[in-house]
Amino acid sequence: MSDRVLVAENLGKTYPLPKGELRVFEGLGFELERGELAAIMGASGVGKTTFLNLLGALDRPSEGRVLLDGEDLFAGTDREVAGVRNRKIGFVFQVFHLLPEFTALENVSLPLMIRGVPKKEAFLKARDILEEVSLEDKVHSRPSQLSGGEQQRVAIARALVNEPRLLLADEPTGNLDWKTGEKVLRLVLDLHERRGLSSILVTHNEKIARYCHKVYMMEAGELKLLSSLPS
Ligand SMILES: Nc1ncnc2c1ncn2[C@@H]1O[C@H](COP(=O)(O)OP(=O)(O)O)[C@@H](O)[C@H]1O
Ligand SMILES: [Mg+2]
Repeated sequence: MSDRVLVAENLGKTYPLPKGELRVFEGLGFELERGELAAIMGASGVGKTTFLNLLGALDRPSEGRVLLDGEDLFAGTDREVAGVRNRKIGFVFQVFHLLPEFTALENVSLPLMIRGVPKKEAFLKARDILEEVSLEDKVHSRPSQLSGGEQQRVAIARALVNEPRLLLADEPTGNLDWKTGEKVLRLVLDLHERRGLSSILVTHNEKIARYCHKVYMMEAGELKLLSSLPS
C-alpha cells in the first residue's frame, strides 16, 4: 500500500465576486506520497496558488476535503487549523513575506516562538537552520539589507524551522532573476532530499520540473499528470 501524506478529495474553490462568483475549480483529486516531490505548472491565473493555499491550510475549500497524514486538515476551528499548519506544513511564497523590522534570526525564530519554544532555544535552532541555507553571516541582517535570493533563503529557513514533513512552495523564484532562482530551486531540491520531505513545487521552470517525481499541469480547472517517475 502506498504511503500518502496528503490527499485532496473532490476539492473545489469558489471566490465571491462583487457580482456573482468565480469558480476556480471543482472536483479536484490529488495525492502526494511520502518522500515525493511534485511539480505543478500552468499558466498564470489558472488556480495554482488557490490550490496550494488549500493544501497548505491557508484558505478553506468551498467543497471537498484535504487529508494530511490521514486527518481532515479543516476539521478544527481556525485556530486549530493554524496550529496544525504551523507544526506540520512549511510554506514558501513567491513574495517572501518576511517581517521588515525583524532580523533574519528573528524572522526564522517566529514559528518556534508561536509554538511556545523559549527564545534562547528558538534562536539556537534558527541559527542552525540559517547555517544550513548558508546565511550564517547574515543572521542579524534585516530583510532590506539582504538580496532577493537571500531573503528567499531566510523564508525557506523559516518554513522548515519547525521541521515540517510537508513543504509547499508557490513559485519560490517568481521574484528572482534566472540565476538566483536556479540556486534557490536547487536549495529546495537539496533540502527535500536531505530532510526527507514530501514537497509540492509550483514552478514555471521546466528544467527543475524534470527533477521532480511527478509533474502536473493545471489547465481549465483540471490537474493533468504530465510525467511520472518512481519516487
Ligand atoms: N481572493 C480572491 N478573490 C477573488 N478571486 C481570486 C482570489 N484569489 C484568486 N482569485 C482569482 O482566482 C483565479 C486563480 O488565481 P490563482 O490561484 O492566483 O492563479 P495562479 O496562481 O495559477 O496564477 C484567478 O482568476 C484570480 O483572479
Ligand atoms: Mg500563483
